Amino acid sequence: MSVFKNKTTLMPDYIPPEIPHRHEKFLEIMEYFKPIIEGDAYFEHVFIIGNTGTGKTLVARYLERYIQSLKNRRVDVIYINARFERIPGNIVRKLLRWINPFAPDRGYSVEDIYMYFLEMLYKNNRGVLLILDDSDHLFEKYAEFIYKLGRVHEIGIINRLSILFILRSNSSLNKADLWAIGGLRKNVVYFEDYGYEELVDILDYRASQAFKNGAIDEGSIETAADIAATYNYNARYAIELLLKAGMIADKKGEKIVTAEHIRLARFEVPPSFTYEDMKALTLHEKMILYALSEILANGEKSFTTTGELERKYREVAKYFEVTPVGHTWFWKMIDTLNAFGIISKRLSSKKFRGRTTLIGLPSFSATILLTKLQEMIEDEIIKSIE
Ligand SMILES: Nc1ncnc2c1ncn2[C@@H]1O[C@H](COP(=O)(O)OP(=O)(O)O)[C@@H](O)[C@H]1O
Ligand SMILES: [Mg+2]
Repeated sequence: MSVFKNKTTLMPDYIPPEIPHRHEKFLEIMEYFKPIIEGDAYFEHVFIIGNTGTGKTLVARYLERYIQSLKNRRVDVIYINARFERIPGNIVRKLLRWINPFAPDRGYSVEDIYMYFLEMLYKNNRGVLLILDDSDHLFEKYAEFIYKLGRVHEIGIINRLSILFILRSNSSLNKADLWAIGGLRKNVVYFEDYGYEELVDILDYRASQAFKNGAIDEGSIETAADIAATYNYNARYAIELLLKAGMIADKKGEKIVTAEHIRLARFEVPPSFTYEDMKALTLHEKMILYALSEILANGEKSFTTTGELERKYREVAKYFEVTPVGHTWFWKMIDTLNAFGIISKRLSSKKFRGRTTLIGLPSFSATILLTKLQEMIEDEIIKSIE
């Protein structure tokens, strides 16, 4: 016996048939891409900007599914998550594989492969809409690549590549805003945080798909929304709470998911970032996060400095018997973790002597993170030895 009728509908990559409270954003984005889809224009760039859990990925994948279902469309859609395909090389290789699975990629630069891809599109007389999800760190770290994607007039052929960039923050875009400099049209669609009522609607809808009739209290849904309030009504967090609470109810052999199950789930689910996402981090990023958790776990400090964190990271590397990375790489990883929204990074106020960079862990429990990361790091080290 289970409270669930279809648990998979609460999994992160499930795309529901409807998108309550986001349909208008979908239509707004469609409006921009309509001429491309119908073959009346060659390319368009659109940006979605919004916090974690505001439905950005959902709307993008919904759009993808919608466009792919159109019979007379003049474009195909390619979805790439830049959090997984981290570097420009991986991204262009994905494009290359898509347009020609047999093309050799070794020995070619990012530029070569990208130009080849554009030429093939031009030759095939067909457009592509590339959805570049979670692309903040590309703007932060690979501005050159972003400029390459944006320089549509200098390539010598007609550009047939449209892009939907998905970002968490405006400030990433400002780091490499070719659109402002180059006078290119910049269409930005902001995804504001959900409010309480909106989140309850969304959770009602998602719960009706996932749970058996009557197997979840309305009070449980309201509790989940309430808890998510602390995290900007992050829908992803709230949905993970529902999933986890259902699993807890099942484990206890109870027939109805109650508010208490939701509260219990709260201790097991870190918001903003799921364990699956965490697995995708590199070994050294995991160790930096581990070091940060160790510093913050005893609860005396809210923040640490980069200097202290780096020292701790070196200790941790020694503990796991892994050679630590150098100073420059350490900094790069700090930027990546920050761009992913896992850690926070800001300059100290003048109170400190000289200004120093403070690192925080905005929405995680350090103690829970420690146990999770310990397992992940050990697994990864064992795998690398095998
Ligand atoms: N309007 C909505 N209707 C139904 N489910 C939603 C809605 N908004 C978000 N979700 C769900 O919440 C979770 C987080 O949404 P997601 O699109 O991944 O957020 P983001 O990409 O902005 O971080 C996903 O499971 C998604 O399906
Ligand atoms: Mg997303």
